[in-house]
Order: sequence, then C-alpha cells, then structure tokens
Amino acid sequence: MRTFILYSRGWTKPFSEKDLPGAGRMDIACRCVSAALFISYTIRRDTRFFISLNGGSQPIALCFDGRIRKISPDERSIGLWISKTLEKAQNGFGKEWKRTDNGILYAQKSFREILEELEKEGCEFYLLDEEGKKIEETTIKENPAFVLGDNLGIPKGEEKFAERVAEKISLGKTSYLASSCISVVHWICDGKGI
Ligand SMILES: C[S@@+](CC[C@H](N)C(=O)[O-])C[C@H]1O[C@@H](n2cnc3c(N)ncnc32)[C@H](O)[C@@H]1O
Repeated sequence: MRTFILYSRGWTKPFSEKDLPGAGRMDIACRCVSAALFISYTIRRDTRFFISLNGGSQPIALCFDGRIRKISPDERSIGLWISKTLEKAQNGFGKEWKRTDNGILYAQKSFREILEELEKEGCEFYLLDEEGKKIEETTIKENPAFVLGDNLGIPKGEEKFAERVAEKISLGKTSYLASSCISVVHWICDGKGI
C-alpha cells in the first residue's frame, strides 16, 4: 500500500466548490487527491491519500482510497464531495473512521493522530522537503507513507513530530506544487515496483 498525507489549512466546514482557493486553499488538496488516486481510465487501488484539514477549531481527517465511487478527477468534483463530507461532519462524529456513500473516510483526528495510526500499521515514513536527501539516493521501503505540506508547508511543531519517524527526502531544490510531487513520487515508485 502506498500512502500520502497532506497537511492542509483547508476549511473544516462546508464551502463552495466554485471558490476552492477561498476555502483555505482547498484547490491544493483537491489537486492532490486527483494526482494520488487517478490514472488514465481508472483509479489506483493500492494507494490512499489522507488530508489533515486544519482550517477550523478542530482538525478533521479525510481519507480517499481505492474504494471511492462516483468521484471524477476534476478539482471541482472532488471539492464538492469534500464539502458534502464536511456537512456530515458538522453534526458531530468521533475518532472512529466513518465512510460516506462515495467511499470517503472521515474522522475527528489530528495530523499527529493520523501519523501515529499509520506508525502502528508499520508504514515507512518519508517527509517531502526541498532540503532532504535526494530521492534518487534513498531506498524507498515497502509500505511507504509520504508526508507533504500545502502552499505554506508543514508547521514547525508538526514537522518535528513527523521527523521522529520520517526520513526527509527531496525531489531537488525547486519548490514544486504538492500535487506535482505526488505524481513524481508515483512515477518513481511505479518504476521501482514498490
Ligand atoms: C508548494 S510546496 C510548499 C512550499 C512552502 N514554501 C514551504 O516552505 O514548505 C508544497 C509541499 O510540496 C513538497 N515539496 C515541494 N517541492 C519539493 C521538493 N523539491 N522536494 C521535496 N518536496 C517538495 C513539500 O512537502 C512542501 O511542503
């Protein structure tokens, strides 16, 4: 299983899919979902993508995996389904993952709680950072979990928390869009058969 975790400042309340950037740069999260899950004509069944939403009083975690249904790869469609999921979340929900009819998982979990859960599962963490070790010189182990930030990156405290378990890896000195990083990481892992 290949895993991605995005630290996002996206809203935790419903928003208009017509203004994704205005909802805490939800456009970034939507592009990342598309890059992580969609390939030509189908979706990746061996990949899951977590979004840690931090643009509200309580963090919310979402997860898109190979069981998503009726969601197309365009940003607006993904944004619409995220907003609908957040509507459900407004009525109160707990730490246990729940799945919407479209297959999106949601829970009241923080970024750190997502990482702790994946650590218990035995994921091997890689923190994507321009200053990290070159990805070409890194051995990517089985069950990798790649951690990324949004346009403002990962806050220092959360980054330190991730660094406990993660190796910092870099795609070079250029600062790429988070969604572009996901495509490159997929390409490398596909090539290596990881
Ligand atoms: C647009 S960048 C954020 C840039 C932001 N100024 C910062 O300080 O993190 C979004 C995310 O993509 C990842 N990223 C971007 N370029 C990268 C690179 N060359 N190597 C590794 N990760 C990269 C990082 O995880 C980053 O947090």
